[in-house]
Amino acid sequence: MPNGIPAPRQPGHIAIIMDGNGRWAQQRRRPRMIGHRAGARAVNRTIDFCLQHGIGVLTLFAFSSENWGRPQEEVDALMKLFLGALDREVDELHRRGVSVRFIGDRSRFAAGIVQRMDRSEQRTAGNSAMVLNIAASYGGRQDIALAARALAQRVADGSLQPEQIDEELLGQQVALADLPAPDLFIRTGGDTRISNFLLWQLAYTELWFTDVLWPDFDAAILQQALDDFAGRERRFGLTSAQIAAGTAQSALP
Ligand code: IPE
Ligand code: IPE
Ligand code: MG
Repeated sequence: MPNGIPAPRQPGHIAIIMDGNGRWAQQRRRPRMIGHRAGARAVNRTIDFCLQHGIGVLTLFAFSSENWGRPQEEVDALMKLFLGALDREVDELHRRGVSVRFIGDRSRFAAGIVQRMDRSEQRTAGNSAMVLNIAASYGGRQDIALAARALAQRVADGSLQPEQIDEELLGQQVALADLPAPDLFIRTGGDTRISNFLLWQLAYTELWFTDVLWPDFDAAILQQALDDFAGRERRFGLTSAQIAAGTAQSALP
């Protein structure tokens, strides 16, 4: 960013933990799956909003590496929902210029799902209106561990010296390495934790929490988060005066 021009007040990358589907259903005395289905509609609203507002990257936490431990019935039903959503939505996302990507351990999904994930990615790879990352079977610790393993492999085959390993090199191995880090993190559902989402990538992300349950998430709530974000000063460890002077831009990540 050139000197004197304020940093954009709108996040370029939003990352969301979509939490609270189960409680939303429980409040209505309905099975948890009803909440997940309503949650899928909230995903569509969120994508619409981000496309309308020119948000470049949206990353959604759909299923964590720990969520595999839920009752089999819920895992199975979630997989069915996921598959259905892939079949239904990808054409429309493609038409709207969205590039769809998946992060997480694909090896744990059934072959039919992996095939559709691969196909969706390939089909939409050239799109540039927005990048939509779906974190599925994703864990932040696993992400970092795999990055460490990739570098260890290069050390083992002699193409890398241990002293060459630094933040930049490790950062190039984690998920989303080719995209700017999330500017704004949102978690719905009232819990104020990261739950093993993008641990590395969230180092300097602004965090925003709401009690609203994910199926109730809509444009008005997202706008609240954006308004809050717009009023924040991101200092990246520097002083307010440095940020105001714009002299620190080159030091920013
Ligand atoms: C988030 O909602 C969706 C997934 C983790 C798949 P939850 O299912 O965690 O809903 P709560 O937290 O139980 O209400
Ligand atoms: C985080 O929610 C994962 C997703 C939203 C996909 P969880 O419901 O799994 O998180 P905890 O268990 O409350 O930490
Ligand atoms: Mg939850």
